[in-house]
Amino acid sequence: MSVLRTMPVEHVLERGKGEHLKRTLRGRDLIGFGVGIIIGTGIFTLAGVEAKEHAGPAVTLSFIIGAVVAALAALCYAELASSVPTAGSAYTYAFATLGEMIAWIIGWDLLLEFGLGLAVVSRSWSSYLANLFGLPQVLFGETAPVNIGAVLIIGLLTIVAVLGIRQSSRLTNVLVAIKLAVCVLIIGVGVFFIDAANLTPFIPPATPVPEGGSILEQPVVEGIFGIEATAYGVGGMLTAAAVVFFAYTGFEALANLGEETRKPERDMTIGLLGALGICALLYIAVSFVLTAMVPYDRIDPGAPLAGAFNAVGLPWVGALISIGAVTGLTSVMMVELVTIGRIGFAMGRDGLLPEPIGTAHPRFGTPHRMTIIGAAVIAVIAATTPISELADMVSIGALSAMIIVAIAVPVLRRSRPDLHRPFRVPLSPVLPVLAAVACFYLMLNLDLLSWLRFLVWLAIGMVIYLAYGRRHSLLNR
Ligand code: ALA
Repeated sequence: MSVLRTMPVEHVLERGKGEHLKRTLRGRDLIGFGVGIIIGTGIFTLAGVEAKEHAGPAVTLSFIIGAVVAALAALCYAELASSVPTAGSAYTYAFATLGEMIAWIIGWDLLLEFGLGLAVVSRSWSSYLANLFGLPQVLFGETAPVNIGAVLIIGLLTIVAVLGIRQSSRLTNVLVAIKLAVCVLIIGVGVFFIDAANLTPFIPPATPVPEGGSILEQPVVEGIFGIEATAYGVGGMLTAAAVVFFAYTGFEALANLGEETRKPERDMTIGLLGALGICALLYIAVSFVLTAMVPYDRIDPGAPLAGAFNAVGLPWVGALISIGAVTGLTSVMMVELVTIGRIGFAMGRDGLLPEPIGTAHPRFGTPHRMTIIGAAVIAVIAATTPISELADMVSIGALSAMIIVAIAVPVLRRSRPDLHRPFRVPLSPVLPVLAAVACFYLMLNLDLLSWLRFLVWLAIGMVIYLAYGRRHSLLNR
């Protein structure tokens, strides 16, 4: 069956040795990229929204659960990224282990995750910018019929991404420093406004969710398995964990930079686990401080963090946070765009997408065609689709890719025991299986409509694969 054919690992490694992409990145650049893509809308907006609507102060526990699931998945990514360093990450690992069709599905799925992630963040960037400078909502706000701000920022970043990875990395490092400083500011100042009364009860008692809304809008665990939906309580905390998982998505992007990293076998692991660890600590501290400063039912869902400081009479801190959000979100978008380029590049190189997409720019050494095509499509989506319709799709895309990566670890160990593995997931296959199950459980906490949209996207991908990719695949020749 040709759809199950795999690509030999040697072939993947050999190809990565070519001088097509430039090897310039070090471990700390990778951590910078990681923090750059991870910290974003998830902490600046979703933490407050979820505390208010689902978890109360227990949103801190939701972030801890998310961190554990993300860390399990990151360990699996680290093993594959260090032993098969390549542009395309999960897509290429799947190609080497589970076969061409699964690889295609994963690549297609990653394009969804990062593409819609970029759309979500560009829209919230535009809103923050409008708030900061008093720009017209009708052009820059979430209610704008055509979101000009989102289109503008995507256009600007596309130019940087095409000019070169080294430039993207420098810009990212500056933006990341500002973002980290803002998080430290929130924790350092907020700590003086902690009111223990706001934290009791830490897990507010569960209250039934009011009836109404179609089955499509319920989490799958509730809609299909008939478990009663609750706000707050342990159930609410788990729902919040699924939603705030969005905050951790993006670390996988690092695994795409294997061919541009000087010593991938060492730096990949440092980059993945280092970035995730830093973000998890900041998230847990920031969400704790936020819920300790303001009673959860009085959190401002539009600008939760800035609102908390306004509420305690420190509007200047609120303004600094908004500046941090604008810069912080810029770095998320930068890395997402870079990642889209790499995944398309890898798929084009393998013949699953038209081959010109899989060639790097002769002078800049970047996958310019995919970057530009991807950015154009995403700009159209970002201009016209509300954030609420896009965000869950990012989580579902990320989680499903993580499941495949987790499965690929024990499969590759069995099929290629001889492969040099600079980093090994401890306790395989127990840990990878645990990672896959945990990701699947979180996926079940997303609503049915998101699942349907996700399946439609996969079906479109399948048609393209059967009509084009299968015939043009390099493995045919
Ligand atoms: N993790 C990124 C964010 O929270 C996508 O914005």
